Amino acid sequence: MSSASDPNKTIFFIADVIGEPGVTFLETFLKPLIGKYKPDWVIANAENTHEGRGLNHEIVQRMYDAGVHILTGGNHSFDKWKIFGYMNEDPNLLRPANYPDGNPGKGYGIYSLRGCPYKLGVLNLQGRTFMPDIDDPFSKADALLAEIKKETPAIFVDFHAEATAEKMAMGWYLDGRVSAVIGTHTHTPTADARILPAGTGYLTDAGMTGPFQSVIGMNRKTAIRRFTHGAPQRFTVATKDVRLCGVLTKINMITGVCTSIQPIIYPEFVTSTRTTDTRTTDTRNKENGTE
Ligand SMILES: [Fe+2]
Ligand SMILES: [Fe+2]
Repeated sequence: MSSASDPNKTIFFIADVIGEPGVTFLETFLKPLIGKYKPDWVIANAENTHEGRGLNHEIVQRMYDAGVHILTGGNHSFDKWKIFGYMNEDPNLLRPANYPDGNPGKGYGIYSLRGCPYKLGVLNLQGRTFMPDIDDPFSKADALLAEIKKETPAIFVDFHAEATAEKMAMGWYLDGRVSAVIGTHTHTPTADARILPAGTGYLTDAGMTGPFQSVIGMNRKTAIRRFTHGAPQRFTVATKDVRLCGVLTKINMITGVCTSIQPIIYPEFVTSTRTTDTRTTDTRNKENGTE
């Protein structure tokens, strides 16, 4: 964590946390990572934390205890109705702002650090391409930025969307108006982290914090069956090869400009281990299990 008067603050954003494997991984490894990167704020997307869909009060508390300060959401934010009442009470628990009025919870928040004169705005939006047909995220961003900018120029956006093009469009739409636009939802990290010309940190998708021996976090067998059979399948969260995906952004809190963006994958993928693996595919699958 920086000194209170230093206007350069670090935000550690953690991509979609998947079920019990993802939450447990954070409980074990987030504090050491916080010790290493020393972020001022830790934000995590929590839409998949409860059995892969939705979230509950107990898991929210576990995420806070693990070191997360602010939780964002997405198309699964409303999957578990028991959280609805709590969503209205907890200012650090967000869901996409462009769901129609009348839904529980809120889509943005403004956060302070003790003794620090600077504030961080966090805005959660959701795309509409191959997604639920909710309100326009672009015009919603315009309306809410007018409010948030009264309080702070430092604004972090989690844009939860399926289509790469929609996420890129939002990045350019908000370039110079917010500090960072970080994409979530596809659960696969993209390699395009950069600072756009007007000063906005951008990443199409941060990935996921969950089991990578899976199809975007879910059991491989049932996920494959969905494609081979075409009929709906009961998805369960996979368990193996759990990793954290996220991104570190440094933001000047006076100007709101992003000065650094660094994707994080922990542990990093190692692509060379197979060169010495002489097992057949069948043997490997048997040894790794079929989940
Ligand atoms: Fe997700
Ligand atoms: Fe999602």
